[in-house]
Parts: sequence; C-alpha cells; structure tokens
Amino acid sequence: MGNCREVKVQAATVKKPMKQLTVTGTFALSVFTAVLGSLQFGYNIGVINAPQKMIEADYNATWVHRHGEPIPLGTLTSLWSLSVAIFSIGGMLSSFCVGFVSEWLGRRKAMLLNNLFAFIGGSLMGLSKLCRSFEMLILGRFVIGAYCGLASALTPMYVGEIAPTSLRGALGTLHQLAIVTGILIAQVLGLEALLGSEDLWPVLLGITVLPTVLQMALLPFCPESPRFLYIVRCQEHLAKRGLRRLTGRQEVGDLLTEMKEEKRKMDMERKVSILELFRSPLYRQPIIISILLQLSQQLSGINAIFYYSTSIFTKAGVQSPVYATIGAGVVNCAFTVVSLFLIEKMGRRTLHMLGLGGMCICALVMTLALALLETVSWMSYICMLAIFGFVAFFEIGPGPIPWFFVAELFSQGPRPAAMAVAGFSNWTANFIIGMGFQYIDLCGPYVFLIFAALLFFFLIFTFFRVPETRGKTFDQIAANFSGHSAGGMMDMDMDMDLDKPTELDYLGEESM
Ligand code: GLC
Repeated sequence: MGNCREVKVQAATVKKPMKQLTVTGTFALSVFTAVLGSLQFGYNIGVINAPQKMIEADYNATWVHRHGEPIPLGTLTSLWSLSVAIFSIGGMLSSFCVGFVSEWLGRRKAMLLNNLFAFIGGSLMGLSKLCRSFEMLILGRFVIGAYCGLASALTPMYVGEIAPTSLRGALGTLHQLAIVTGILIAQVLGLEALLGSEDLWPVLLGITVLPTVLQMALLPFCPESPRFLYIVRCQEHLAKRGLRRLTGRQEVGDLLTEMKEEKRKMDMERKVSILELFRSPLYRQPIIISILLQLSQQLSGINAIFYYSTSIFTKAGVQSPVYATIGAGVVNCAFTVVSLFLIEKMGRRTLHMLGLGGMCICALVMTLALALLETVSWMSYICMLAIFGFVAFFEIGPGPIPWFFVAELFSQGPRPAAMAVAGFSNWTANFIIGMGFQYIDLCGPYVFLIFAALLFFFLIFTFFRVPETRGKTFDQIAANFSGHSAGGMMDMDMDMDLDKPTELDYLGEESM
C-alpha cells in the first residue's frame, strides 16, 4: 500500500490549522446521513421498553394457540429476557467484524449494505404478530442487533474521518447524541396513545426501517471517506474529489498532506493482532483500561433503566411509568448536551469519575427509597428523582467517554484490534445486563445495590489507573504507558494547556 503518489506541499502547510474550513452542504448531509445509523441504534435500545406488557400478552396468546394452556411464568420471563438481550448478541458478533468489513467494502458501502440487516430485522419484528410467532420477533431483534453493532462503529468511523480536525471531537459526540435521541423517539412513540398499543406495537418495532430507507436514499449523495480512499486504497484522485466536495474548496493539497503524514505514521507501525494486545507489556495496560471503561459503561446498570424502566417505575409506585420513562429519556438527551460542553473543559478522567460517583450515590438513594416505599408513600418521587439523577450522571461521563476514549489510548497500528476488543466487551456486558436483570430483579429493592458496588469499584479503578488524555498527542499517551509498563503508577494528570495547540490539532490522527 505504500505506492501512493507523493503530494508535494511545503512542510509548513502541514502545521496549518484547519479552522478556516467551512461546513458545506455536502458535509452536513454526510454527517446527518451517517448518524441515522446511531439513531437506529438508540431507537432499538429504547423501543422494547414500553410495549413489554402488550408483547408478553401476545406471547401468551401464541402459547395458548399452540398448547391450549397459558404460558408458564418462568418461560415467559425467559422468552422476554431473550427478546431484549439477543439484540446485544447480534451487536457482539457484528462489532467484532467491523474492522474487516469497513476495510473490505469501504465505509460508505458498508453502511449501505448494513441497511439490509435493518430491513430484514425490522420486517421480521413487524410481521411477527401477524404470523403468531415470537421466534420471528426474537430473530428480528438479533438481526437488528447485528445492524446496530456495525452501525455503532461505522458511524463514528466515517464521521471522524470526514470531519476537519478542529471539529472532530464535537462531531464525534454527535454519535452519542443521536443514540439518545433515538431512545427518546422510541419512548415517545411507545406511548399507548401512539404506537405502544395492543394492535400497533408491531408497527412500533417495524418502523425502524424508515430511517433505513432515508439513509439508503441519501448515502449515494455522500462521498466515500477521502481518508479511507487515500490511506487504505491509495486512490488519490478520488480522495481529492471527495475532499473538494466536502470542503467546497478547489485547493485541498494541505488536507492531502495531512493524510500523507497519517499514512506515513501508519506505515511505520505494524498491525497488531488481538492476541498481541494482551501479550505485549506495551499494550496490556491500555487494553485493560479500555475493557474496564466499556464495562463501567454497561455494568453501571444504565440499560437496566433503558430496557426495563417501565416495570422499574411501576414497582416504585410511580403513577405514570411510561411518562416517567420519557422523562428519563429527556434527561438523558439534555445531559449528553451538557457533557458535550464540559468534556474539553474538565477532561475525560474527571468527568468519568464524577459520573460514576454520582451514579453510585443515586443507586444508593434509589435502594433506600425502594426499601422505604411500603412505609413512606412519597418515596416513589424520591425513587423517580434518583433514577433521573442516575441517567444524568451517566451522560456526564460514562455514556459518551468510553466510545472515544479507546481510540485515544491507542495509536494507528493497534487501534483496529483495540476497537474490536472494546466493542465486543461493551456488547457482551450489554447482553449480561439485558438478560440478567429480570433475574437479579428478584432481589427486590436491593437490586441497585449490586450496581452501586460495581460503580464504586469502577470509580476506584478510574482514580488509580485511568490517565487524563485531554489535549495529549497519541505519542505522549503511548509514552506514558510504555514508561510505566513495568507495573508502576501512571501520571494521572497529563493535562495540558488546551489553548496551546498540540500536534494533534494539526495532524490527521484519527480520533474515533
Ligand atoms: C450508550 C451505551 C448504550 C446506552 C446508551 C444510553 O450509548 O453504549 O448501551 O443504552 O448510552 O444513553
């Protein structure tokens, strides 16, 4: 791959900031089209929550139709847990393939073809009631999960690659913002008065094909990632054309030089296999941190809320559980925006610890409120507030940070393998919560104590092991790890003056 034509631009232009770049229509369209994938990811996380009772009733009707007797409670619980959690198995399997698929097909074609999964998954779920088959619904959840696993990596990859360096961080968080918007849309449409009714729930689940149609219609108007075309495919001419469309400029030599620098660095690094990540003392510590950050996101118990909040609110004695669920969705969106503004001011490590600590306290308050519910009736309000606080603290740190932190911990060579491991860990833990929560919920009011304990552990881990990466170049982050790979403590306060531009601001290092 080293035979790209050299781009002869003076060295000084490499250091030229990209701030003068304008956001063109093509660029805005491309970002919008890509995040439709994140929107679907969020939609399918949130959609299963509100219609639980209706769908369970239909499972029972199907069972009666087939066996002439009502479904045993244990079987219903298992079938429902499977319907919720098989989504993450689909995500787990496909997220592992994302490196290969995106290099083989290219980012844009991979997104285009991924929509086939959404079509098949959406159709299976939408037609399951008509066909009296809960198997179809479960299979549909698996297939749409596979779609989401790919989308959860393809979207940030494409957006990060087409974004000008100066906008890359902010645009990266659009991924999480689109996820939480998708969750909220699903919650609102899940209202009984809208699509969450006995008859319309199949529409609620099947409607996921609409953003798919939109994305398929728009993708042909979006250019393939020029970074991919130049660095991976060595198609300088096409890369240039894409850059011209995205930037609206005729002269794109400086941007090509930036990519050339990225390619030069990439060519110097060996590709690192997944096994090597764990074997080499150089990568062991960052990969452990990456995995634990993903686990801290999922084992915090956030998806216990997003998959099961309606039943949690019901148990907590909240009058309108579905509206409370929508409230949680609104808080979720609002605090993702808050995090967007705080992230470059306060740093990743501080916000992550603040989020984990806040969630831990909210989980304890929730436990206390649930335990006192029988004796003090207004405890249901405290419980609701604690859940809102839990969600708000999640979006301050543990929600958005793990998605992009992994990319910051690794340089070009080991990054694809590290992203695959991180994605797999995230979806596996997502599965464990989706599948297991119904069972651990049998602990009654004390269920959130388990999450409080886990959150406390992750807080301690972050305090002792996770470094600050804000404003650091990849070289500086890697040096920090190699200097301490013998087991010593790392420099936790690697913060730098943000106003002072770093190499990272100018060179084309990927930040997703
Ligand atoms: C993050 C998590 C996802 C969760 C969502 C909630 O994107 O990866 O599992 O449902 O945040 O906002």
